[in-house]
Amino acid sequence: MSDKPHKIKYAERMQHLPPYLFGMINKIKMEKRWQGEDVIDLGMGNPIDPAPQQVTEKLCQVAIDPKSHRYPEAGGMKNLKREIGLYYRENYGVELNGADDVICTIGSKEGISHLCLALLGPGDTVLVPAPAFPIHVYAAVIAGANVLRVSLSSEEQFLKQIHTMCRSLCPGPKLVMLNYPHNPTGTLATREFFQEIVKMARQLDFMVINDFAYSRVTYDGYVAPSFLEAEGSLEVGVEFGSFSKSYNMAGWRLGYCVGNQKMIQGLAQIKGYYDYGIFSAIQVAGIVAMRDCDDTISEQVALYQKRRDVLCEGLTRMGWEVEIPKAGMFLWVKIPRLYSQMGSVQFAIEMMERANVAVAPGAGFGQEGEGYLRLALVENENRIRQALKQMRRAMAEIDREMAAGTFSLATA
Ligand SMILES: Cc1ncc(COP(=O)(O)O)c(C=O)c1O
Repeated sequence: MSDKPHKIKYAERMQHLPPYLFGMINKIKMEKRWQGEDVIDLGMGNPIDPAPQQVTEKLCQVAIDPKSHRYPEAGGMKNLKREIGLYYRENYGVELNGADDVICTIGSKEGISHLCLALLGPGDTVLVPAPAFPIHVYAAVIAGANVLRVSLSSEEQFLKQIHTMCRSLCPGPKLVMLNYPHNPTGTLATREFFQEIVKMARQLDFMVINDFAYSRVTYDGYVAPSFLEAEGSLEVGVEFGSFSKSYNMAGWRLGYCVGNQKMIQGLAQIKGYYDYGIFSAIQVAGIVAMRDCDDTISEQVALYQKRRDVLCEGLTRMGWEVEIPKAGMFLWVKIPRLYSQMGSVQFAIEMMERANVAVAPGAGFGQEGEGYLRLALVENENRIRQALKQMRRAMAEIDREMAAGTFSLATA
């Protein structure tokens, strides 16, 4: 054997993937926890509450049956797909046949990534709202496509930007990525907006993906519309749903894609090469979740709403500008000017080091997120109150050090 280290060389596409920012914040959090520190985690939208009991019981029951140990039906069990179809009929008045227009995925993130691989390649352009949940950008980047960002603004402005970009690009964008209710900002869409997007997609010849991961996490009586409610939507696009947030099944990895048959066929084809679908026991448990767990969703959402209110009140009392979200699992807040000058990543590090509170820096969602923080509603009310207290103390400490000229940036 030679003493020379073997040369490991990544593919060129890896150069377009910056280090995953949330991975870095998570690493600091885990290091602190290993040292025995109690970090309050408002960083990641990773639910701490359990999945509904009957769902877990069904999983266990099916998991001991050897029949479920074989490769599952790729693309999803017939009964689960039928349940998803029924759900769309009952909740959105959308008729799906439950076969060619539904596919189950290993969480929506996997589905979005592989659909982009099926639809996009070098020379194609995708429009993505900015700021963005990272996979909305990087699924297209990994597929080799160009990404153009469209600033999230009023619906009218957003549509105008898409129109202008479509008219000025040759060839025009192949795909528009949407995400309503939006992560991280909590921006909502109206049915009229979706209808306009469909009209534009037909006129200007682009496909649409709507990531509907937060479909059921809505507050104050607000009901989020589905993209598929728009007339003609099935001709131009698909929508992704997830079990991760509605049913606290984030670690189970179960999601789905519904809508345009040809797009779904493309996703099925590419997934056929990459994976064998989802463990059957998880799929059967997913049917129980969809059939029997509406009440659990309402209870969970009521918890999130209370946490949202505690967090909003606390931050407002601290003098922060807060917009109360009507959906999603997060608060998207502007960092006060005095601290935003250090940048959102550094501010997040200061909060981690000085306050033992993990938060997601806005810059992690693209440069348009700079100056903001995203706070997840995953800790209980008491811990949220404690986090606010610790953040207030840390900011007072920064103020004192700045006044005395002794402030220096914490290092990760
Ligand atoms: C907008 C959005 N889409 C997709 C996901 C990932 O969902 P899943 O667990 O179904 O892959 C998340 C997770 O935080 C999200 O915020």
